[in-house]
Amino acid sequence: MKILVIGGGGREHALVWRLRQSSSVDQVYCAPGNAGIAAEASCIPASLASADELIALARTLSVDLTVVGPEAPLVAGLGDAFEAERLPIVAPDAFAAQLEGSKIFAKQFMAERDIPTAAFAVVESADDLAAQLDRFEYPIAVKADGLAAGKGVVIAQTRAEAETTGRQMLSGDMVPGAGRRLVLEEFLRGEELSFILLSDGAKHFVFPPTQDHKPAFDNDEGPNTGGMGAYCDPRILPADLNATILDRIIEPTLAGMRDLGHPFRGFLYVGVMITADGPKVLEFNVRMGDPETQPLMHRMRGDLGGFLASAAYGALDSTLVSWDAGPTACVVLASEGYPGPYAKGRTITGIAEADASGAKVFHAGTLLRGGLYSTSGGRVLGVTAGGESLAKALEKAYAAVEKIYFEGMHYRTDIGRKGLARYK
Ligand code: AMP
Ligand code: GLY
Repeated sequence: MKILVIGGGGREHALVWRLRQSSSVDQVYCAPGNAGIAAEASCIPASLASADELIALARTLSVDLTVVGPEAPLVAGLGDAFEAERLPIVAPDAFAAQLEGSKIFAKQFMAERDIPTAAFAVVESADDLAAQLDRFEYPIAVKADGLAAGKGVVIAQTRAEAETTGRQMLSGDMVPGAGRRLVLEEFLRGEELSFILLSDGAKHFVFPPTQDHKPAFDNDEGPNTGGMGAYCDPRILPADLNATILDRIIEPTLAGMRDLGHPFRGFLYVGVMITADGPKVLEFNVRMGDPETQPLMHRMRGDLGGFLASAAYGALDSTLVSWDAGPTACVVLASEGYPGPYAKGRTITGIAEADASGAKVFHAGTLLRGGLYSTSGGRVLGVTAGGESLAKALEKAYAAVEKIYFEGMHYRTDIGRKGLARYK
């Protein structure tokens, strides 16, 4: 097969890397890709905002399958557009993509289906805000409806802070293109886990759970980011809790989308908080996680290409992939300033040495200029490794991190710490 991967971050690099090792895959293309991906696949510039352009690309390259990394094209209807042209794609339709594209859709869907999630209120206008704010104890989560590229959620400690944030979001200034309506949510306490599944519309396969680290700094301090590191370890979850998540959350979500006439196809990411009252849904994404994909792909064995094609053709075959026994971990190296405005164009050294040490360095935001890599994004690299225990995987990843340098580079030194505590 020839496969086209759409996107250009660490998640897409990990997918491309694993696809290249698939027995059923001859050629991998990536649009637009990045400097790291370019070393492993043919990268083609493309505007992800144009379905027509991506359809033309899939046709020109005569690919057998297209796999989409980021959510924006999916929410905009890329799945429907490919389907209409009979081009095989791993993607939900635009209706199902509302699970990520509209927080209000997702919350109302969960409420109707009795899927456990934080108590919430929908705010339609600034006039409505004050009355709804009175219904909560603080802190609360204030969420902009609509895609917000990770910037649409603010945890407000007080009512006053929630009101200021809510007004800013409703004005449309805070999150361009989103937030004309809001969701207010009860604040949930607990450990956060990521569940990612692949569905062909009828059957589905749930990947091993992973844990992300969203706050920028150690000990979960600082502002929220897209994710500063993740790991995949069979010990993440006891069997009974895993069964509850499947029975109470994943099965009813997929059944609910079928009932609505839009069986979910493609990747569904369910962000779950393990609270004292049991697991509750924090968010749905209609794509794989970044950086969760990096440790997942590192742990996966078998024929990813065949597996993805089986989903796109409506005959999901999960026997095509398996999982290495050992855990894997990914440490994200970020630019100075990230997740705020960040520096770019800093020269990166040591990537080859880190790769040679037995880790795999996935590129997220890099450029290649005159033979030198430089930074071009907030999250720059995802240094990923496996081992016979989580401790060994982390040791290998952090040893590789030590070999890499760019000015202002920052990363968390406590990735996997909650996981290590499970070994005691
Ligand atoms: P979301 O995009 O809805 O997942 O929110 C981004 C992040 O904000 C989540 O991964 C959580 O870390 C945090 N968060 C969102 N909603 C809540 C909530 N109700 N209680 C506590 N933390 C939350
Ligand atoms: N790492 C969180 C996400 O992909 O949404």
